Amino acid sequence: MISSPLMTVMVDAVRKAARGLKRDFGEVENLQVSRKGPGNFVSAADRKAEEVLRDALMKARPGYGLVLEENGVIEGQDKSHTWHVDPLDGTTNFLHGIPHFAISVGLERDGQIVAGVIYDPIKDELFVAERGKGAYLNNRRLRVSGRIDMADALAAYGTPYLGRGNHPRLLREVAAVMAVSGGTRRLGSAALDLAYVACGRLDLYWERDLQTWDMAAGIILVREAGGFVSSADGASEALATRSVACGNEVLHRELVGILRKCNA
Ligand code: IPD
Ligand code: CA
Ligand code: CA
Ligand code: CA
Repeated sequence: MISSPLMTVMVDAVRKAARGLKRDFGEVENLQVSRKGPGNFVSAADRKAEEVLRDALMKARPGYGLVLEENGVIEGQDKSHTWHVDPLDGTTNFLHGIPHFAISVGLERDGQIVAGVIYDPIKDELFVAERGKGAYLNNRRLRVSGRIDMADALAAYGTPYLGRGNHPRLLREVAAVMAVSGGTRRLGSAALDLAYVACGRLDLYWERDLQTWDMAAGIILVREAGGFVSSADGASEALATRSVACGNEVLHRELVGILRKCNA
């Protein structure tokens, strides 16, 4: 485990918000739900968890800015630090009673993600990483998978909300990866997809049209676990392009090559 004042702040905030999520998951049919766009829902559970996170993070680090999925941007006096907060990543799973969702909090310092926490309250799995200090799941140090044969690899991807994203391109990419990999999955939480690459459950993951709060924490987890993270085309930083491709060095290179070929 990482013991630092920063980690304590992040873990305490996330655990506090998770208590509400767990309670609300048990009574999901009574939750107030609204639609942000076609197929894109937000519930009282998302909003309540975000308030808990916002209050805890602002109290512990008063000057830092925040990018909050449900409440937008709060500018801080300290211009070098920004939290990226997803109070409930996997809302669709949550609202359908599928126990696969997480809280994700990442800290950006001068343009770099320096710490991340992703917590799955149902499985009680806490993923943490801090720059230079490694990545952990509960108390276990993480390492990305060592598989280098694409035919053995398990690859996850994300699908966009109704009416969003480039469906023909995604279908081409999924077909191309299905044709050469050991298997494909769409699990429904970008944060957990990244965390699962960090801990070696998944060998690869790619997705486009994400937001910084979906991936900030996961990016540092994968990197601190020895993995490679880039934009989906492999040419830029994930955070800047809001797209991601990740895995170990060998499979990441191969995945990016496959995706590029699909779009050539
Ligand atoms: C979504 C999930 C999903 C991904 C979407 C995200 P939300 O986040 O991470 O896996 O495919 O792009 O928006 O809305 O559940 O926090
Ligand atoms: Ca959402
Ligand atoms: Ca999300
Ligand atoms: Ca969310």
